[in-house]
Amino acid sequence: MTTNHDVKDMSLAGKGKLRIEWAEQNMPVLRRIRARFEKERPLKGLHLGTCLHVTTETANLMWTLQAGGADVSLCASNPLSTQDDVAASLVKDFGVATFAIKGEDHKTYYNHINAILDFKPQITMDDGADLLSELHKSRPKQIPGMMGSNEETTTGIIRLRAMERDGALKLPVIAVNDSYTKHLFDNRYGTGQSTLDGIIRATNVLLAGKNFVIAGYGWCGRGLASRARGMGAQVIITEINPVRALEAIMDGYQVMPISKAAGIGDIFVTATGDKHVIDKAHFEAMKSGAMIANTGHFDVEINLVALEKLAKSRRVIRDYVEEYKLKDGRALYILGEGRLINLAAAEGHPAQVMDMSFANQALAAEYLVKNHKKLEPKVYRLPEELDTEIAAIKLAAMGTDIDVLTAEQEKYLASWEEGT
Ligand code: ADE
Repeated sequence: MTTNHDVKDMSLAGKGKLRIEWAEQNMPVLRRIRARFEKERPLKGLHLGTCLHVTTETANLMWTLQAGGADVSLCASNPLSTQDDVAASLVKDFGVATFAIKGEDHKTYYNHINAILDFKPQITMDDGADLLSELHKSRPKQIPGMMGSNEETTTGIIRLRAMERDGALKLPVIAVNDSYTKHLFDNRYGTGQSTLDGIIRATNVLLAGKNFVIAGYGWCGRGLASRARGMGAQVIITEINPVRALEAIMDGYQVMPISKAAGIGDIFVTATGDKHVIDKAHFEAMKSGAMIANTGHFDVEINLVALEKLAKSRRVIRDYVEEYKLKDGRALYILGEGRLINLAAAEGHPAQVMDMSFANQALAAEYLVKNHKKLEPKVYRLPEELDTEIAAIKLAAMGTDIDVLTAEQEKYLASWEEGT
């Protein structure tokens, strides 16, 4: 089976196929949806254009969408997150038109996005909103006739809500990230573990005893903090939101401004979604040997241009570790080029959490097919019943039973008369 594609090396397909099967074993919710989709074919005759991290877990989502009857194309949602063996297998074994090469340059990245739009998809799926943004900027004539789009990540949803506010959004979007079965698990436990995995694979650093600074205490920051503490690091949180800062203190972390943390940290990780969170003044204060990584979606959180200006030389000292020798003699280490370290230097979130995230994507596509005529060009969340259903299937797959309200309890919860 071959199809239109641009991948690094088709001879990697065999390895990719085996790894896709390995992930499948840990994606029971998606497997169940796939079995239902095979019977019901809710996506029959549609083209789904997707821009996601090209991983073994994403391959399982593609397989599920195809089972639903869709014709699927896929490009990378980040230049450094593609697993080349998976991309090859998607083309060879699954017939997915895949356009993704790990390390692709900016021009290739956008050529690949445009290759997806050339298929004139009725539904798009994004992780970071680059596909949808390109659709609105350069192919607005394609929008009428489309059913809608899904968005996977916090950063993408921030962008889409800005488009909605400006009246620029022209089709309905399902904010997959807003589902509980997405952000409470993927962002927290997925990012928590895979970010440490990326840092450790890149550097082989011992986390015990290190001052580990995390910028941002959203779900990703919270997950990362608890995992870093579990590995024996002293965790310092920087925040701009007073409620989150308070929560971090009560969770047992030190909280301080980045200007102060800069001189204390051994390892820094940005998880904010915002720009230049680590900036020139912070590099100037850092200890020699400090390692700096980003786990947010875009590579804007660390001001690399400012760091380059402070540096007299640069060299790649290990894969995904770049040493910047500063004019004053200190050395700072940027991990994964400031791109999301969990996907650049490791494999992203494990299948066990992507199972729920991608179950949301699959059900959101089905929901758009059934409901797009009723939806406006706004950002929606998936109905809570579907979110709860995903959790229930996951629990069942894990072999965990939970309690059910008795008739008496249901009546009590629905009444207001009964007090002490
Ligand atoms: N985002 C984070 N981890 C991922 C994974 N394993 N696959 C796809 N998208 C991801």
